[in-house]
Amino acid sequence: MNSSIMANTLNVEQIRKEFPILKTEANSYPLVYLDNAATSQKPKVVINAVSNYYKEYNSNVHRAAHFLSDKATVAYENARVTIKEFINAEDAREINFVRGTTEGINLVAYSFGAAFVKPGDEIIISNIEHHSNIVPWQMLCERCDAVLKVIPVSENGEMDLSAFEQLLSDKTKLVAVQHISNALGIIHPIERIIELAHRKNAYVFIDGAQASPHIPIDVRELDCDFYAFSSHKMFGPTGIGILYGKASILEKLPPYQGGGEMIKEVTLEKTTYNDLPYKFEAGTPNIAGAVGLEAAIKFITELGHKEIMKYEHDLLLYATKELMEIEGLKIIGNATSKVPVISFIVKDIHAYDIGVLLDKQGIAVRTGHHCCQPLMNRFQIEGTCRASFAFYNTMHEVDMLKSSLQQAINILRG
Ligand code: ALA
Repeated sequence: MNSSIMANTLNVEQIRKEFPILKTEANSYPLVYLDNAATSQKPKVVINAVSNYYKEYNSNVHRAAHFLSDKATVAYENARVTIKEFINAEDAREINFVRGTTEGINLVAYSFGAAFVKPGDEIIISNIEHHSNIVPWQMLCERCDAVLKVIPVSENGEMDLSAFEQLLSDKTKLVAVQHISNALGIIHPIERIIELAHRKNAYVFIDGAQASPHIPIDVRELDCDFYAFSSHKMFGPTGIGILYGKASILEKLPPYQGGGEMIKEVTLEKTTYNDLPYKFEAGTPNIAGAVGLEAAIKFITELGHKEIMKYEHDLLLYATKELMEIEGLKIIGNATSKVPVISFIVKDIHAYDIGVLLDKQGIAVRTGHHCCQPLMNRFQIEGTCRASFAFYNTMHEVDMLKSSLQQAINILRG
């Protein structure tokens, strides 16, 4: 291995000690976890934050004046402020706790659709979206008699911006695109997409599920109208995520779900709704999830985005170079701007068979369509084998992936 590739300021061996699960043996081999785009592993600070909540101050929030409830409410609202700062939102009222990116998208599709979308309006998505950023918009279009338009992607998986410009029109109500591709790892030029959409007075929703673990997010600089991401992809607990929305827009939207907390006053005849952000947080929230996500954010922030990005870029370059040496292997979406995700196919071998043989050697990858069937159709493939890395993965693990993959191919080719 080229030692210059390894130069970085992250102490990866030290970082790995913070993640208890990385010591696991899988099928009698040391676990090599390369399925981070599906979900990431959790550091001790996150596990402890969740467990301390249940051990020390489990209580409902905003509902009672007792000691534990105060403590839980303060922790929950502090987490909201930490998240606001993490994405540089203007106001904590713009930070809505949801179950994950998927719920964030469904919330916008429902509430924005109800407030803004009329028959004949157009919603633009792209060919590379996750099913979560396709289906809710299809459902919205069915409900509102609106039209769904799709930005095509090029042979290397990049969105075709000139085609996008052609699709934009006075009828475009909203553009909903991902920040980074879960299937291919490509970072999209969302700054330009947002600018072009706004010129046509269209709103913009960004699916940031794959961005928050890898790159800094600045919603004010981006000037997007909505941005959603999931805690579990960024080293936090499952079952919680964030929907950011500009307060001026969220204020105009009807609630997504009815229940406790989202109300100001209820009579049997009429209900008035709570202020932001509670209007969108019906029911008892995931308090443990919020404090766990806050711990994950502090962990990432302490490591530093600059250092994470530098190291992950080195990992990507090294893994790309090594895997491309394997005969018959083709990387799908080999664009220049990427996070460390490598999606590949191997000539005449089914991706699933490779995944099974890698697993037998302790290597966890995802195989299949990665919830992106329209993208797979675009490339006329059934699926890929996807190795998705995090900052705790090592160059040595890339070597193990390469040798195990070569071995798997040899076995499958007989
Ligand atoms: N969206 C997750 C993935 O890409 C589940 O694997």
